[in-house]
This record gives sequence, C-alpha cells and structure tokens, in this order.
Amino acid sequence: MTSSSEQPDLRVYPDLETLSRALAEAIATLARQVTAKNGRFTLALAGGNTPVTLYEILARDYRETMPWGQTHLFWGDDRFVPHDDPSSNYRMARKHLLQHVPIVFENVHPMPTYFADPREAAADYEATLKEYFTNDWPCFDLALQGMGDNGHTASIFPGSPALTEKHRWVMAVETEAEPPLRLTVTLPVLNNSRAVYFLVSGADKGPALRLALREATDPQVCPAAGVRPAHGQVVWWVDQAAVDASA
Ligand code: 6PG
Repeated sequence: MTSSSEQPDLRVYPDLETLSRALAEAIATLARQVTAKNGRFTLALAGGNTPVTLYEILARDYRETMPWGQTHLFWGDDRFVPHDDPSSNYRMARKHLLQHVPIVFENVHPMPTYFADPREAAADYEATLKEYFTNDWPCFDLALQGMGDNGHTASIFPGSPALTEKHRWVMAVETEAEPPLRLTVTLPVLNNSRAVYFLVSGADKGPALRLALREATDPQVCPAAGVRPAHGQVVWWVDQAAVDASA
C-alpha cells in the first residue's frame, strides 16, 4: 500500500488477458532494469489460478526479452503437498512457465513440501532465504501477489499468526482454504520487498479490493491491506470487473 498521503497505484485493464499482457511487460521491464543494475532479479511468484495467463504470456512472448539467466525465483507461499500434486503452486508455475523458459535450475527455489513436518519445511525454506539473502531480511526485487476474496495474500489469511510474526520469515500455517496446510512467507518479508505487484481479477475480489485499498483497513481483517513496504512500491494490477465490484 502506498503511504497515507498518496493514492494507491491502481492499473486497471478491461479483462484478465489485457491485464496479464500489461503485467508481463511491466515485469520484464523491471527485470531488465534491475538485472542491468544488480546483475540479478529476485522474483517471488504467486500461486492460485489468476497468474496462469500471466505465466503463459511470459513463457510465450518473453522467452528472449526477459533475463531468465539472471532471474532467481522464489515462492511467497505453497500448499503443503508434493510438487506433483495438482494443487501445488510450484507445479502450476513449472507447467505454465518454468519448463518453457531458459531459467537456470539452480536459481529456482521452490518451497520444500517434502518434509514430514511442515514446521521443518518452513525452517528449511527460511534457511534457503537466509543463505541467499546473506542473513539479512529477504528483499525481493519483486513479490508477485494474488489476493483471495477474503483479502488473504500469499497464505496469510485473516487472523493469521503470520500477520503479527516479527522474527520468522517463513511459517507453516493451517488455513481455512483447501488444502488447508500451507507454507507462507510472513508479512515482514513481503514488506521488505522493493516492489509488490498485486494481480487481482474478477468481481468476486471486489469487496476485498475495496478493503485492501483503504488505508484504515485492519490487516487482521484483510491481510492484503497489511502489505505496505517501508521502502517499496505497491502496484495493484486489476481488471475492470474487480474494480466495478469494489465501488
Ligand atoms: C495460493 C495463493 C493465494 C492466491 C489467492 C488468489 O496459494 O492460493 O498464493 O494467495 O493468490 O488465493 O487465488 P486465485 O488467483 O486462484 O483467485
């Protein structure tokens, strides 16, 4: 969320296809700028269904114009299921994006959902982030986030302990969604990103969008409203249906 003195940065497109095309161009542009400056681009991917169109466009139209060789991929959350499970966010990204682009395998960091204990998996992913971000708080160049119709983002749901967590970077959480057990980065990690792009489509997201864009909204009620990076940009990439339903 932008500071209280500014209006949210809201980019509205007629439908999911035009929205996804515009977002793909913005991500590729940012990736080229960041890579030119830092030599790498760290991107945390979103799960769920909405990003499928975006990932397919990135795979089809940005194979050569996105710096895949310098892009390092992480996940903001995943369902605690095997990576070949139909509900896995990693599986979805691999199917629609990763297997179609020249990404460097070592630079892809899926959440380790193969542990028996999800808490060990969360600790393992936190160790991966600590190793990659040299023990400082993770600072994604871009965190791509979706939002549920109840305002959740990543797997930070209303009332989640991940909202008030101040020390852990990754948590295992029991959610109201299906499948319920998830791994998620905590809110401070998202709020340490250099940029957060929310991708929101559909009338069903309208009420949550209205809450998320309102400065006074309690993140306990609408976690997406709690994404206010102190030194980062938040851009809301939304379609007209979501905006109309948020009025
Ligand atoms: C997940 C996502 C989650 C998602 C929202 C919206 O694991 O489900 O990370 O935060 O972005 O639930 O999902 P849809 O795009 O399917 O509406």
